[in-house]
Amino acid sequence: MKAHSVSSDIFVEEDWLHTRNLVPGERVYTEKLVEEGGVEYRSWNPYKSKLAAGLLNGLQTFPFGVDTTVLYLGAASGTTASHISDICSKGLLFCVEFSPRTARELVYTCEKRKNMLPLLKDASQPETYADVVTQVDIIYQDIAQPNQSEILERNCVFLKEKGYAFICIKSRSIDVAAEPASVFKKEVKLLRTFLDIQERIPLDPYERDHLMVVGRRM
Ligand SMILES: C[S@@+](CC[C@H](N)C(=O)[O-])C[C@H]1O[C@@H](n2cnc3c(N)ncnc32)[C@H](O)[C@@H]1O
Repeated sequence: MKAHSVSSDIFVEEDWLHTRNLVPGERVYTEKLVEEGGVEYRSWNPYKSKLAAGLLNGLQTFPFGVDTTVLYLGAASGTTASHISDICSKGLLFCVEFSPRTARELVYTCEKRKNMLPLLKDASQPETYADVVTQVDIIYQDIAQPNQSEILERNCVFLKEKGYAFICIKSRSIDVAAEPASVFKKEVKLLRTFLDIQERIPLDPYERDHLMVVGRRM
């Protein structure tokens, strides 16, 4: 596992990832705070974050850097988004979440992290946030919806040319009865119509029957 080599803000200890804490002393969920070389890091749980699971499973494409701008679709309370916020410390994350209850927790996370902007919006209606969201380097989508590839395509209006899209596909959200492999094949075919596919990473054993797909805007 080469995750430590993808970002200097990621530290690996005993096969567990950590990100440099943007807000020292503050936790976002139940993560541990650890100190290494005078720097505080937050443990990054692959059972709670598909991006950490992807890295532990060999994800090589990792364009998240200090200044990166990200449109995050399905931010929930901000668990994964907060680790991206640690890494993209001078960038900006537009965090879209449509559940008002969950968005309340997201707002709390964003209050402490000045590079995270919460948007209580439906990702299937990108026109409702077009006045706020700028062109971004990366779209990260984790919404578990049956038409999630189509939703991603609609949001690609915000993605810079050659920008990266990360999509977490949950096979049961698309077709509960079908074999995950056939669901993934169909979704990747759809994604290929608007993305140049770079990587496909199964997220087992951290998330069963999930696939992370990374593509670039053509
Ligand atoms: C699996 S959770 C996301 C977990 C989060 N990405 C993380 O790793 O911390 C999926 C989230 O997507 C949200 N969601 C689903 N459909 C959505 C939509 N159309 N627009 C915005 N949010 C949506 C759900 O309310 C839920 O909070």
